Amino acid sequence: MPISQRTQVGIVGAGPAGLVLSHLLQLEGIESLVIENRSRQYVEERVRAGVLEQGTVDLLTEMGVGQRMQREGLVHYGIELRFNGKGHRIDFKELTGGKGITIYSQHEVVKDLTNARLASGGQIFFEVENVSVHDFTSSNPKIHYRKDSQDYEMSCDFIAGCDGFHGICRPSIPEGILTTYERVYPFGWLGILAEAPPSSDELIYTYHERGFALLSMRTPHISRLYVQCDPDEDIALWPDEKIWQELETRLASDGWKLTKGPILQKGVTGMRSFVVEPMRYGRLFLAGDSAHIVPPTGAKGLNLAVADVRVLARAFKAFYATGRTELLNTYSEVCLRRVWKVQRFSWWMTSMLHRFPGENPFDHRRQLAELDYVTSSRAASQSLAENYVGLPMD
Ligand code: FAD
Ligand code: PHB
Repeated sequence: MPISQRTQVGIVGAGPAGLVLSHLLQLEGIESLVIENRSRQYVEERVRAGVLEQGTVDLLTEMGVGQRMQREGLVHYGIELRFNGKGHRIDFKELTGGKGITIYSQHEVVKDLTNARLASGGQIFFEVENVSVHDFTSSNPKIHYRKDSQDYEMSCDFIAGCDGFHGICRPSIPEGILTTYERVYPFGWLGILAEAPPSSDELIYTYHERGFALLSMRTPHISRLYVQCDPDEDIALWPDEKIWQELETRLASDGWKLTKGPILQKGVTGMRSFVVEPMRYGRLFLAGDSAHIVPPTGAKGLNLAVADVRVLARAFKAFYATGRTELLNTYSEVCLRRVWKVQRFSWWMTSMLHRFPGENPFDHRRQLAELDYVTSSRAASQSLAENYVGLPMD
């Protein structure tokens, strides 16, 4: 017999979306339970995004989980676009009225959120199995799962599907309800984490004949670097020396030197744009990567997940305070307006900065002209800057 549990909002997934939602609800006095199929150590060590928009930083700070981020995060007020061997700075501060971004690893955000949630009596169940969601068109949806060989049935008022792209919530919605919009890119990113001081104070996005390269960082001692590769690239064919050589070639610029060091981790990530509409079915609400994926070129995935749950938490707050469902009913529409603008920006950055198989010399010239325009027109740089630091929250 399953053990019965009861909560107001059942949250599937302890990534950024699930954890931020759980916190925001706690601040409003709304109860939630989070279940996660991986171990705590696994989610706290999973290397993913690293760029936080100003709005994300402000929210984490307001929520009371920003102390370590404020201490250890690196605040940047610009990025460099490099092409034809020359760098061009996009000055966020000047172009956006003082806004910037903060470099702070996603897994550090997850650690801070998990610690704070558990410290305030919140419950996160890690390493659960056989998760399934039920009855979400009724007023009493349920989540079934198994933990330590015991079955559980969690009944709740609402389910938040924060279980990422490969989760079970989205596929549990019956066929014919969701419309999928998708583009898969014919390349991936080979990413490394290296014990080497970053060779630049700010991120460098490079367009090169051999393909895109990105210099990013995690701390003053750890660099994060990427090169465009085939989507199914075999990492075994990339010994460390070959990766450094490729980075050096693509990032080359007069008088600039790439600092190298031991490679701590390497991997290949595919690139896709993906959206489902609507982001809700009955009492099941999808948030973050479970509803949409962006290619990483705009550094938006994590930020978009946080923006979704901010809207969702506000809707739950209104429901529990007044019984009104207007904000729950407009959740999907409000989120999708931002989602599509962020999709556009991420697609645009990706298209501008990568070499596409089968492109012709016209395409190459056009991309260079676009980069020249973006870095020489105030209007164009401002458009990039306001999207990169994050569009205003609704
Ligand atoms: P997730 O972080 O995926 O969290 C979902 C959680 O649900 C996970 O912890 C997962 O284990 C859990 N889960 C899944 N299935 C179940 C289940 N059945 N039951 C219970 N729990 C479940 N974005 C950038 O901006 N820059 C980057 O460089 C970047 N790199 C990335 C690299 C990789 C390999 C990946 C996968 C993503 C990357 N992203 C990047 C995207 C960014 O990390 C995501 O957009 C962000 O994690 C979204 O947060 P989320 O909470 O919606 O989903
Ligand atoms: C990263 O630091 O991992 C990173 C930075 C910027 C991006 C993508 C990833 O656009």
